[in-house]
Amino acid sequence: MCGIVGYIGAGKTTEVLLDSLGRLEYRGYDSAGIALVCEDGLEVIKSAERIVKLREKVPSTLYASVGIGHTRWATHGKPSKTNAHPHQDCSGRIAVVHNGIIENYQEIKRALEKRGHVFTSETDTEVISHLVEENYVDNTLRAILATVPKLQGSFAFALINKDDPGHIYAARKDSPLVIGLGEGQYFLASDVTAFLKYTKRAVFMEDGDIAILSKDGVTFTDFHGREIKRKERVIEWDLEAAEKAGYDHFMLKEIHEQPKSLKDVISGRLNELSGEVELGEIGLTQDEINGIRRVIIVACGTSYHAGLVGKYALEMLTDIPVTVEIGSEFRYSSSRVGPGTLIVALSQSGETADTAASVREAIKKGAHVVAITNTVGSTIARDAGNTIYMRSGPEIGVAATKTFTSQVTVMYMMAIFLGRRRGMITAEKARILLSELKSLPKYAQSVLDQDSNVANVARLYAKANLFLFVGRHLNYPIALEGALKLKEISYIFSEGFAAGELKHGPLALLTTGVPVVAIATRSPTYEKMTSNIKEIKARDASVIAVASESDESIAQLVDVVIRVPDASELISPVLSSIVLQLFAYHVAVCAGCPVDKPRNLAKSVTVE
Ligand code: G6P
Repeated sequence: MCGIVGYIGAGKTTEVLLDSLGRLEYRGYDSAGIALVCEDGLEVIKSAERIVKLREKVPSTLYASVGIGHTRWATHGKPSKTNAHPHQDCSGRIAVVHNGIIENYQEIKRALEKRGHVFTSETDTEVISHLVEENYVDNTLRAILATVPKLQGSFAFALINKDDPGHIYAARKDSPLVIGLGEGQYFLASDVTAFLKYTKRAVFMEDGDIAILSKDGVTFTDFHGREIKRKERVIEWDLEAAEKAGYDHFMLKEIHEQPKSLKDVISGRLNELSGEVELGEIGLTQDEINGIRRVIIVACGTSYHAGLVGKYALEMLTDIPVTVEIGSEFRYSSSRVGPGTLIVALSQSGETADTAASVREAIKKGAHVVAITNTVGSTIARDAGNTIYMRSGPEIGVAATKTFTSQVTVMYMMAIFLGRRRGMITAEKARILLSELKSLPKYAQSVLDQDSNVANVARLYAKANLFLFVGRHLNYPIALEGALKLKEISYIFSEGFAAGELKHGPLALLTTGVPVVAIATRSPTYEKMTSNIKEIKARDASVIAVASESDESIAQLVDVVIRVPDASELISPVLSSIVLQLFAYHVAVCAGCPVDKPRNLAKSVTVE
């Protein structure tokens, strides 16, 4: 989704801006642009293509010490050079880049047009430039302060003014912005990966903040102009973690990082001696834990599937009823939320607008909220107050992989934690579960060792134009996630189903050769799965089974078997999900798709 960058300092401004924009490409975008304060005034350069094309348009001799840039993911107005940011005012003095949606922009635009302003784009963003223009006499900050109260909706914007060449101004409401602190140079971005190359020192802006960047430092005010202080943090991620390290794609690298990310997520959290999970981040007293009457997991996309796995685990290990809700539905539903409700917000980015809005809604209604996220300082982490970090490192591929398995692992730890605290599982049982969790990284590695096998299977089926994925119980959400992965990056129509639902509709889709991926690892529902596989085979469809290593009989039932190590009921779905990630990846590569940046999709969906 849209990315903002800004730079002020003695460095090569155009180079820093283009490099930082390149590092935000993974968020998804359709056009890009930069604006610079140069000696002769503002220079605005845009492209409706990729950043490499924008780079070709920037003269190498262009000098500036202040600039802003943007990658746009179209919401208001089609992707085009005209609609690409930065957007200017009538005088050409001001340039603005924006992420979010100004909900009342049409009303503002009509009023501005009546007062003689001429708009050049179809975007909501342009109203900001014209409003600031109208409010500007000789002080940019004052003009911004007069503008922000008029804007409804969500925004993060950065603004430069040719008549005020020593500053970048930025404002934040419901959309992320972070400042990078260097030596005599300062950075601004939608997320830290944009400037990690230059500095690890960062300040996360909060809702209602305005930042004023100059060569001498950064100051903050609230929307009333009162000075405020914001804390500096040091980012632990390093740049290598955000680069490809010899892999063809970020997605493949991230799939292969799972033994490490799984180790990191459990590290220091499992006490095998006592059979306890250390999860104080949940922020609940024993009395409050006893008082939980229901859990609602809220999430979108892949995180929603991790939430569904979490529901099964929580219901297996605790006595608490659990529902899983899609963020965009929950925020407008009349779900009974209040004291006694534990809301678990799952979001790798911590910035998904619908999940963030759900969190705010739940807090308003008096629920206790715990966020599970990968992003320190993110909106959801801060709003929830209680946050369990996934410690997965940066995930650049748009399709979530390592963050999914870490989310599932956190859900498992939460289920064991609550199960123990509510007296639903014994220390002995917990010790077994913890030792299984500890073996997860090792098992994940042995799945990854079969990468070339999975690639061979993928090649066999890469030309299919429809895939079905089926599973039962914990493997049902894994089937949903397998189908989502495949459709996201290969554009092949694929759907996941609970295997028991096949005869209520999906069987009608089956004809000779249609590939069905069946997750049939050993579990209490194994026998039922093999019956479903027979139903599928009776329609002459092809079955690719994901099965346990020791299962010798399954090969006679299906067309192809991909093996995962024999593992417990909780662990084996995680292993199957890694197989399906590899499968989706290799199919997409065969189809020649841009794996890391699938069309029309964004990594971080910061608008509704
Ligand atoms: C986008 C991404 C998905 C992700 C979803 C939720 O659609 O492309 O990969 O699962 O957002 O993101 P979150 O950051 O909230 O987990």
